[in-house]
Amino acid sequence: MSSHPEATKKLLVSDLLKMKADKKKISMITAYSYPQGLIVDEAGIDIILVGDSLGMVELGYSDTVPVTMDEILNHIKPVVRAVNRAHIVGDLPFMSYNISVEQAVANAGILYKDGGCDSVKFEGGEDFVPVAAAIHRAGIPVFGHIGLTPQTAAMMGGFKVQGKSIDAAKQVLDDALALEDAGAFALILEAIPQQLAQIITEKVKIPTVGIGGGIHCDGQVLVLHDLLGLFKRFTPKFVKVYTDLYTTQLDAVKEFISDIQGETFPAAEHSFNMKKEMVEELKKAIES
Ligand code: KIV
Repeated sequence: MSSHPEATKKLLVSDLLKMKADKKKISMITAYSYPQGLIVDEAGIDIILVGDSLGMVELGYSDTVPVTMDEILNHIKPVVRAVNRAHIVGDLPFMSYNISVEQAVANAGILYKDGGCDSVKFEGGEDFVPVAAAIHRAGIPVFGHIGLTPQTAAMMGGFKVQGKSIDAAKQVLDDALALEDAGAFALILEAIPQQLAQIITEKVKIPTVGIGGGIHCDGQVLVLHDLLGLFKRFTPKFVKVYTDLYTTQLDAVKEFISDIQGETFPAAEHSFNMKKEMVEELKKAIES
């Protein structure tokens, strides 16, 4: 346990807003389990997203569309149990907020109240202002997500950089301003030109967190499995891969198999002993 009481103080929405005001960069990462929560919190990450990327990197779906409320909820809970300091964002899965404002508020309430996360995120801009406003009015902090929105990538012609024309760029800026007005306290800017992300970051008072949004955002987020080299299916251009845990884990399991086959595991230090005399006594007892 830390001897510094401030070290484990939970980061509040007000702390994140202050970080923007103080020009302190915000670090954000995904996590989906108790051990992942422990690691990223101990590392000092500011925000943890229990994101619907869960579907691809942990559950084996080909995209994020099939992810359900129960799946997100079941992964928020262990992360909440692990984390002391980081602000935890729960991701509203596709079709959990798209049908009506009432449905969106009810599902945001489930993630916030039953899951125990500190805020909820959903994908969408101006069209979702009533959803953002209603969740905010219900007392739940709202994290917006604009630019490339993976849940509706099919409508965008695939996983493509957004805001590349003047009109498209203006729309992403309008989305940002509209969500801020509706009460969102922060915004993910995904896969947009860095110059556009800079303009948005300067225009809004709330923090922007980029994923493929360039260096001028107030913070940066990546999917944990991408930066750890655990997800090999594809790696977007905006990902920096810091290590190759897939190969590290693969090699460890291969070595374990080889140790079993070569009878070098378990060694003496992994085994329990009985006194020699007791072994003899046991053998006699079994024979008689
Ligand atoms: O679900 C997720 O991991 C996300 C990030 C890509 C921002 O939404």
